[in-house]
Amino acid sequence: MSDISRLLQQFPREKVSLLPTPFHRLDRLSEMTGCELWIKRDDLTGFGLSGNKTRKFDFLIADAMKQGCDTLIGIGANQSNFCRILSAVGTRFGLDVHLILSGEKPDKPTGNLLIDNLLEATIYHVPRTERDKKANMVYEELTSKGRRVYFMPPGGSTPVGSLGYTAGFDEILKDIKQSGINFRHIIHASSSAGTQAGLVLGQAITGWDGRITGISVDVPEKELSKNVYQLASEAGAMMGVSVNPDLVHIDGKYIGEGYGIPTKACLASIKSFAFNEGIFLDNVYTGKGASGLLDYCDKKIITPEEPAIFIHTGGFIQLFE
Ligand SMILES: Cc1ncc(COP(=O)(O)O)c(C=O)c1O
Repeated sequence: MSDISRLLQQFPREKVSLLPTPFHRLDRLSEMTGCELWIKRDDLTGFGLSGNKTRKFDFLIADAMKQGCDTLIGIGANQSNFCRILSAVGTRFGLDVHLILSGEKPDKPTGNLLIDNLLEATIYHVPRTERDKKANMVYEELTSKGRRVYFMPPGGSTPVGSLGYTAGFDEILKDIKQSGINFRHIIHASSSAGTQAGLVLGQAITGWDGRITGISVDVPEKELSKNVYQLASEAGAMMGVSVNPDLVHIDGKYIGEGYGIPTKACLASIKSFAFNEGIFLDNVYTGKGASGLLDYCDKKIITPEEPAIFIHTGGFIQLFE
């Protein structure tokens, strides 16, 4: 048993995700860039139309069930991938779902919001600035009626949620071992910090000597570094592991104008992955993450001698927005 598996044994865990996800070479993109590029297909985690959030829910829903909760509250934007998976997890495990979503109620829901509606989640549409206030009101109202509520911040990025990617890192290490390739980089889209915190904690536990880089899609570099470090440290504290802040690498150069606004390079990366590999990214997260990956090849931050893994964190439903 690996060190990570041993440490994670103490936490309750459900099998929401279908694991392991595929891991394979990006043949045409490797040829195009002259680099050795591989992909971890967490767009194929199998539950509720997939994505990185199912790994977080392996631990989050187990924690909610252990606490005897009967209701889940989640926060996000109208096209939140997290809230889509939350809706599906809630119905699958028999808990009520309440979603506080920033954005107006559209005449006809599309993309992730279409799925939330199909799953009959109770949805409150509020302006972005009133999201937290509304979430607190809903929480108070439900608990005052005797409901046992499991409350999650955006992205499910709590210490418990981030354990999903500590387990994910263990899986990636097995992929690496099986491939026989000395990967030097892991690159992925980063936002609410949970995915990267889990990966970084995995690196802290195992001492893997490559570099994990989170391409920020919205949060300024310094702020996201702080968030990732804090979350990784809190998750580490639950198992007696300390995290070195030097393990946290964030690149904020690919954000563009902000959350949900695709850059030119993001759009070009979506096309490039679709045309060359038949793999679909999204405008909010993975398109920006991949724009960082491809730019790193251009700029020789990733070289042919330094193979890289891109984690596809899902989100393609947003293309149907
Ligand atoms: C498709 C996709 N990729 C990446 C991310 C970033 O993950 P995290 O919020 O854990 O940093 C998210 C969620 O925010 C997402 O939905």
